[in-house]
Amino acid sequence: MLSVANQKGGVGKTTTTVNLAASLAMHGNRVLVVDLDPQGNASTALGIEKEETSRSIYHCLVEDAEIRDLAQSVPDIPNLWCVPATIDLAGAEIELVSLVARESRLKRAFSAFDSSELDYILVDCPPSLGLLTVNAMVACDEVLIPIQCEYYALEGLGQLLRNVELVKSHLNPSLEISTIVLTMYDGRTRLASQVADEVRQHFGDLVLKTLVPRSVRVSEAPSYGQSVMTYDPGSTGAVAYMEAAREMAHRAKTGVGN
Ligand SMILES: Nc1ncnc2c1ncn2[C@@H]1O[C@H](COP(=O)(O)OP(=O)(O)O)[C@@H](O)[C@H]1O
Ligand SMILES: [Mg+2]
Repeated sequence: MLSVANQKGGVGKTTTTVNLAASLAMHGNRVLVVDLDPQGNASTALGIEKEETSRSIYHCLVEDAEIRDLAQSVPDIPNLWCVPATIDLAGAEIELVSLVARESRLKRAFSAFDSSELDYILVDCPPSLGLLTVNAMVACDEVLIPIQCEYYALEGLGQLLRNVELVKSHLNPSLEISTIVLTMYDGRTRLASQVADEVRQHFGDLVLKTLVPRSVRVSEAPSYGQSVMTYDPGSTGAVAYMEAAREMAHRAKTGVGN
């Protein structure tokens, strides 16, 4: 179970969650995506119809609804499910404050859920370090951090790392950063390769070898309610996410990078 987190918006959290999940499912894994961002972009990108969704992860966090009852199967991708987000979730950050065990509501929900038939659970976090992201870091032992290959890539990363350490020392001793994914890589610019080098120097083997290139097809796919894996499987972005998923699955087996 891993959370996809970075408090910066627009670095590729949702894109990475959706496309890694789709790739892993297409390789025969059983995968659940939990959309923990009130914007609900992961739900939309996976083709979950907003009009037909009244209950979401909000109801699990705030009203004790069961994960099993909230998970919807993703159209066109067997073995992939999504617990969607609805706009109610925007209020959860505040509503959670007054609840008992507010940091571990998601963990509790998953303890009551039989996940033994799932191979991966990916939680798409909102662009903040608030209670929703903390819930994800308490529920998941692994954090995957997408980093956009651009000038300000490393800015704010220290704060994210400190938060991971805080959650680890107070709430979830098993928490580890397991994976870094470099996103929106533009091979034509020196800056992108400098950022990639810098991230590799800092995080070593945690960084996947696969670079996700900037690709128009990746950014188009969500407007069709699809992952790029189904929208254009031959595109550079789809090939990269397939390769990234393969690396992750390989690491899970061999422990490299853990
Ligand atoms: N590899 C890529 N190539 C082109 N556009 C991308 C790529 N990855 C993400 N994007 C676009 O960048 C924007 C931000 O990505 P998103 O995954 O929503 O970030 P976050 O969830 O971190 O806010 C979106 O419009 C998305 O379509
Ligand atoms: Mg997002």
